[in-house]
Amino acid sequence: MSLSKEVPADAFPQGFAWGAATAAYQIEGCWDMDGKGPSIWDTFCHAKGRVFEDQTGDVACNSYQLWEEDLKCIQQLGLTHYRLSLSWSRLLPDGTTNYINPKGVAYYNKVINDLIASAVMPMVTLNHFDLPQALENRGGWKSPEIADVFDSYAKFCFKTFGDRVKLWITVNEPYVCAKHGYEDGLYAPGLREPGTSVYLVGHNMLRAHSKAWHSYDANFRHLQGGKVSIALSSDWAEPLDPSNPEDVSATERYMDFILGWFACPVFCTGDYPEKMKTRIEARNLELGFSEGPRLPKFSEDEPNPLGTADFFALNYYTSRKVKNTSSHRSELSFKGDQGAEVVMDPSWPICGVSWLAVVPEGLRKLLNYIKETYNNPDIYITENGFSQIGPVELEDIERWQFYQDTLQEVSKAIRDDGVSVTGYFAWTLMDNFEWAEGFRARFGLFHVDFSRAELKRTVYHSGREYAAVISRHRTHI
Ligand code: NOJ
Repeated sequence: MSLSKEVPADAFPQGFAWGAATAAYQIEGCWDMDGKGPSIWDTFCHAKGRVFEDQTGDVACNSYQLWEEDLKCIQQLGLTHYRLSLSWSRLLPDGTTNYINPKGVAYYNKVINDLIASAVMPMVTLNHFDLPQALENRGGWKSPEIADVFDSYAKFCFKTFGDRVKLWITVNEPYVCAKHGYEDGLYAPGLREPGTSVYLVGHNMLRAHSKAWHSYDANFRHLQGGKVSIALSSDWAEPLDPSNPEDVSATERYMDFILGWFACPVFCTGDYPEKMKTRIEARNLELGFSEGPRLPKFSEDEPNPLGTADFFALNYYTSRKVKNTSSHRSELSFKGDQGAEVVMDPSWPICGVSWLAVVPEGLRKLLNYIKETYNNPDIYITENGFSQIGPVELEDIERWQFYQDTLQEVSKAIRDDGVSVTGYFAWTLMDNFEWAEGFRARFGLFHVDFSRAELKRTVYHSGREYAAVISRHRTHI
């Protein structure tokens, strides 16, 4: 049964964004071509033992040279919106505006112009995990100066591309970047500094985001009329035993540590969630930690993050059952602070990479939670997808079932629950470099043949069906 038969044509609001998303390091390749500086992901992948089979994004989908092939895929899907990210070090090789790489600017100008000429609205992410290595050498996200350096980069991008780009994401998934990059070392820069750097990095990302939003608001909004936000990843979590108050509070903590950490300062109070603050302070006492606050404070001398998002940008992939735990109690770690253990619900199917339980109804619940908790914002689902471990059949029936079920849940959230969902971006346009999983986790609407230099893109069944849904539901803006 196709979604187009079940969902009335008016189920999605006028101007709803029908999108797909990608990120620079995952698709572009040409990691050192035409003056591009290295990013922390180049360094991370070039060190052995970090990524599945030591794969790298050196070539990836070669979108730097094959952009026109990507454009054909975008056109074939009939997308109204395409979310891409800029490689900061392709534009500014050392991360600063001291030197601007004209070839990098030309590349993104072409991409953006081609999109506009095809009536596709770009949504542009300024930083999707790939911090310039030159900035990492100066302390990266741990250094307080990063917020101003990011702000200069953001202003450069607003000035250069903002006449055409009207939807901006400053930072992608600060939670994932801070936790995997600095707590457990699974992502670049691969540091393991449990229980400390993770909060500092998150804090500086919020400061950077907030400065960039204020710069846009003060200098560009009146001329360009765009919108700026930060993309937050969140699971949906439910208590393992809803009648056990400890599991209930562990679940609240889980949500606070994954989403509230960033959403509360931006959408609610201008500060971290109260429960997160008290929990970390209590843990400091418990662990005898006295080297200053682990969770930094927002300074009164800087613009506050409150109100620095023109929409809510949500990346959703999975749901969790949560139970209270004290097993990491004596350890200085994020997990110990969170005090919540994730338990797989056997009734939830899993896909591709084992951490992903497939729970489309969790998205509807999460959308409602955001509506209630964060003052009913407009929400773009900036990522959602289904991975399979390759090789994947072109007739990817399961993936399409997932998209159908998910879009049904989104339409119910809109029509029945009154959640203001303004767009949906499938992750991802085509199979690409899935970070520590390399190329084995395939999320694409298009298959990419990584075994041949042409890197041919071929539409999956899910891509064809998504195109059919878009053609029925898209409205002109
Ligand atoms: C979120 C990240 O933003 C994206 O880069 C990644 O590929 C997907 N999750 C899937 O894991």
